Amino acid sequence: MAVIGLGLIGGSLAAAVREHRLAEAVVAYDRRFDDVVAGHQIGIIDETAETVEQAVRNADLVVVAVPVRATEAVLQEIRPHLSPNALLTDVGSTKASFVDAVASVFGEVGPNVIPGHPIAGSEKSGVRAANSELFANHKVILTPADSADPAQLNRLKRLWEGCGATVLTMSVAYHDEVLAATSHLPHLIAFSLVDTLAGEDENMDIFRYAAGGFRDFTRIAASDPVMWHDIFLSNRQAVLRVIDHFTRDLGQLRTAIEAQDSATLLRVFSRAKAAREHFSKMLSGQAYVTDMSQNQVTFQLQPGGSVTGDIRVPGDKSISHRSIMLGALADGVTEVNGFLEGEDSLATLQAFRDMGVTIEGPDNGFVRIHGVGIDGLQAPRGPLYLGNSGTAMRLFAGLLAAQEFDSELTGDESLSRRPMGRVADPLRAMGAVIDTADGGRPPLKINGGQALTGIHYEMPVASAQVKSCLLLAGLYAEGVTSVTEPAPTRDHTERMLEGFGYHVHRKGATASVSGGGRLTATAIDVPADISSAAFFLVAASIAPDSDLTLRHVGMNPTRVGVINILKLMGADIEVLNAREIGGEPVADLRVRAAELSGIDIPEDQVPLAIDEFPVLFVAAACARGETVLRGAEELRVKESDRIQVMADGLEAVGVQSTVTPDGIVIQGGQAIVGGKVDSHGDHRIAMSFAVASLRATGPIEVTDCANVATSFPGFVELARQTGIQITAQGA
Ligand code: S3P
Repeated sequence: MAVIGLGLIGGSLAAAVREHRLAEAVVAYDRRFDDVVAGHQIGIIDETAETVEQAVRNADLVVVAVPVRATEAVLQEIRPHLSPNALLTDVGSTKASFVDAVASVFGEVGPNVIPGHPIAGSEKSGVRAANSELFANHKVILTPADSADPAQLNRLKRLWEGCGATVLTMSVAYHDEVLAATSHLPHLIAFSLVDTLAGEDENMDIFRYAAGGFRDFTRIAASDPVMWHDIFLSNRQAVLRVIDHFTRDLGQLRTAIEAQDSATLLRVFSRAKAAREHFSKMLSGQAYVTDMSQNQVTFQLQPGGSVTGDIRVPGDKSISHRSIMLGALADGVTEVNGFLEGEDSLATLQAFRDMGVTIEGPDNGFVRIHGVGIDGLQAPRGPLYLGNSGTAMRLFAGLLAAQEFDSELTGDESLSRRPMGRVADPLRAMGAVIDTADGGRPPLKINGGQALTGIHYEMPVASAQVKSCLLLAGLYAEGVTSVTEPAPTRDHTERMLEGFGYHVHRKGATASVSGGGRLTATAIDVPADISSAAFFLVAASIAPDSDLTLRHVGMNPTRVGVINILKLMGADIEVLNAREIGGEPVADLRVRAAELSGIDIPEDQVPLAIDEFPVLFVAAACARGETVLRGAEELRVKESDRIQVMADGLEAVGVQSTVTPDGIVIQGGQAIVGGKVDSHGDHRIAMSFAVASLRATGPIEVTDCANVATSFPGFVELARQTGIQITAQGA
């Protein structure tokens, strides 16, 4: 292998190739022969070359590692001596310039030419700073033409991977655009800012007082001026485009400051903060990821224990989603306390930011939403990604069907399997234009600019999500939109609309709204989520000697099925300090261990406990006698098929059950011997088996638990604090 140009990058590549024995011999040439001699002395090359010819003559791989603007001259020198089969590559920061230089020197870009760009560097330069680890855990971008030889491409990939890098491929044009924005512009701004400040203060005294922010921001202004000069001139077009975007946006901020326009400043800053946080999470691999294999979390549970203490579980998921939605559409500023900082509700929050809404926080459950008014949403720049959240997707569908702009709703693997026809069909009857993937699945593509008309809809399934979707669409529809439910479902949308001053007419099983009104900002206190409390209600009931108090739990009558069912089974749950806060009933709950008995679960309780069945199945397994659930086919289309996945999990820990099309029969009193359970990425299944460990005789391992963060951030710590012997791996 020949390296032409033995600076930091060429030297580090030579060092890495030698160290990992990726080439028979590394020969180097540099116009400063001293550097080549130094490279030989410090042991990063095998042979020195005094001329380009000597270096290139016998090489089967030639790496051009010279400043971008010197490339063409070097290629002229290489050309007469390059063997026809040799692979020719480079390490330059711009790629069109390399390809152009090759074309002008060789008359074409042959199949053996593969441009490359390692995204690695250092403020140090020169061969003496060479570091064989420079590329480890860094990215290398290759920009092969379609006509490139696949064998050569493979070879180059293996070489870089051998140096510890991750290799990506993309087109030359795309590379130059991306780098202009993410690398070249920041360097330009850093150079410019330091120069401006230095010019403002002759003695540069100003730097004496430079704060950490200045230091962090301008670190890269210490980079090599010649190299950057070359980069800007060779990536001129792409750099000019992004400079224009930046100066336009900077100009807008200037205007906003001049006009004391707080809304614009807060909108831009909070959008940027959110984007920066998302970006850091992506870099550290914590963001909600679509490829679950990269985000594995496993729960390890030791058997036994009892549950005690005084705790408050995180905020209600349903109410948190709705607080952002209605707060965004209201006139004025809505303040929310107790907001659930779980991935599902954060996805909703991010989606509204993407539609131009300024949202401050969340900060310890506090969120301030600067409402844009019922018609104030702006077109998002791309699809709205809603993670794991069926609620978000269905409620957004109603809201967005009525907007002036087009939108697309996407989600993770689980959400992409869930039925959306149940909302798309009635919305179409109102005049909406919505495309779904096969079988009515996400993504949803919504065509904006449609005039909606109110309908009356008899819901075939008892679903608060469908009801809420239609009521939200109804805010924008001509006339009255009414929905009749076959059984009572959670009514947070109706209550919260009233809280925002929008009247919802409720008569029996029917809720209706008239379109064309406005919402007025309000304050919202989100109670603790009864669906999250449910894990502890069951835990304290089944574990001997338990005594646990849960604070500020939402006790909306459409949500208390889990308490009703547990009480029918003999649970000892005391409701204390019942009160109403912001239109929602709340109470503290004291739970003590009790002998549970199996029951026939009354069907009218099913929609009222729809999210709590996984953990209720654990209660059933620990009860004396048989528990029968019927009329719960909806469980099959939740984040997983909760009937089958629970039955499989119970079997894995030693408990047999009988699955029916719409429910399950569980014989209580079987030993929970422990074992390995696959939660299928369903947060509630994962947490249910954590609870089951309290009555197990052996350890339980639950896989695929990362999604617990969608509804219950901090579950593992809180569970451990109460006495569940849980640890999480890979979190
Ligand atoms: C929810 C309604 C329920 C529930 C979900 C949240 C809501 O779904 O399972 O977790 O916030 O409206 P369905 O209404 O589809 O049963």
